[in-house]
Amino acid sequence: MLDHSHGIGGTEIDEDLSIVPDLSSGLIDRSIYSDPDIYRLELRRIFARAWNFMCHESQVPKAGDYFINYIGEDQVIVVRGEDGQVRVLLNTCRHRGNALCRAELGNTKTFVCSYHGWTYGLDGKLIGIPGKTDFYRDDVDQAAWGLAPAAKVDHYKGFYFATLDAAAPTLFDYLGEVGRIGIESMLNQGDVVALDGVQKNVIDCNWKIAVDNLFDWYHVKVSHNSASRVGFLNQRMMMPMTQMVMLGELGHAIGGPMVTEEQQAKIDALSDEERLAIDRLPDAERAKVTPSERRPLRSVATKAAMGPVGVRSTGHPNIFPNLWISTRGMQLSLRLPRGPGHTEIWWFTVMPKSFNDHQRRAAKKFISHAFGPAGLLEQDDGENWSQSTAASRGVVSRRYPQNLQMAMGQDEVLVDPSGQKRIETRVNEHAQRWTYKCWAEWLRARDWPELMATRSPSPTGRI
Ligand code: FES
Ligand SMILES: [Fe+2]
Repeated sequence: MLDHSHGIGGTEIDEDLSIVPDLSSGLIDRSIYSDPDIYRLELRRIFARAWNFMCHESQVPKAGDYFINYIGEDQVIVVRGEDGQVRVLLNTCRHRGNALCRAELGNTKTFVCSYHGWTYGLDGKLIGIPGKTDFYRDDVDQAAWGLAPAAKVDHYKGFYFATLDAAAPTLFDYLGEVGRIGIESMLNQGDVVALDGVQKNVIDCNWKIAVDNLFDWYHVKVSHNSASRVGFLNQRMMMPMTQMVMLGELGHAIGGPMVTEEQQAKIDALSDEERLAIDRLPDAERAKVTPSERRPLRSVATKAAMGPVGVRSTGHPNIFPNLWISTRGMQLSLRLPRGPGHTEIWWFTVMPKSFNDHQRRAAKKFISHAFGPAGLLEQDDGENWSQSTAASRGVVSRRYPQNLQMAMGQDEVLVDPSGQKRIETRVNEHAQRWTYKCWAEWLRARDWPELMATRSPSPTGRI
């Protein structure tokens, strides 16, 4: 009998951790945006370890529905089985490693490899081997050569995630309060459905530069000046002097405008029907009557789920490492690493099932003009990100650190009687610093137990 050993095998060789810089001073060593060793460490210690966003349940509603995504650079098939269960399988044939499924999404009964025809069921089991008797002489342990499954798959309120690391905590615990608030911010008006199509394009930037920008409310007035001048962006709604930051363990964070406690009290006085009626008004009309200029007016149920502080945050959540919940909770953006200098940007769109035609049309129009390959804002951002990345490759330029020190030591973490923590301040760089601090902790920890033992708690006090 041949040796059919098929484990993923091998322990991680000890990495030289001196390459992971200390970023606690807010000075960012530019090598983290170009060093191939750092990048390799990120794939192993962040992406292969974290819970990664896969898709929304409405993208795989029926048995046989599948959707292709990535965990780092590992391609995976998200597929709903005959038993209704959603599985995540590595999209690589166990025979010679060929990519098995070539379509981005669809419905199928089996996955047949285009190289030699090995055939797999929806649950990943190997169900057919051409020439099993004639060529293999029946000497192949078919049960041992199914597709490799993710270690864990779970969803939070219909949003599916997967991890390749069996030692990862539960998804609920991984997300923590801040990550869960991020997802809740999409469910403000009840159930949502993902629209057809995911917009995808590659930007010549390091993935972290795209991620840290989502907390950056400093650049909007300058980078997106043209969008303001043509009336696409309302600068007043950016609220640079009224910002809230929430920092969650393992690197999750929310940063951006907020609803004040006084404004929230007015919203709380509205019935859900009154809230929905206001939400359905065109923007110009809405601005005249709503106590909060930024959508959405959150429902009583959402407030209960988000907590008294979370409900007032209308900024941008990032679920570590790379899932940005954007555009009034209707877009999700994945920043998928493609080498240190390239990032594939994906845009999913979800909308409340309750949206009427007018709301749906208005949201689609705004979304398609904002982000994605044709997005006005993404054109501006992409240009800055790619040039910042390019400069990190210059052997002399990279000796000069980037500066993320705005408001460092200037603010206080406030604790609500509910226990929820937040910083209420003006434009700042707290969330970016937190992201990099946690990023370094992920890279230094050799496994999940070490990461859980060494991760920073959500900060308190002066920050
Ligand atoms: S590589 Fe898939 S059948 Fe050979
Ligand atoms: Fe931007």
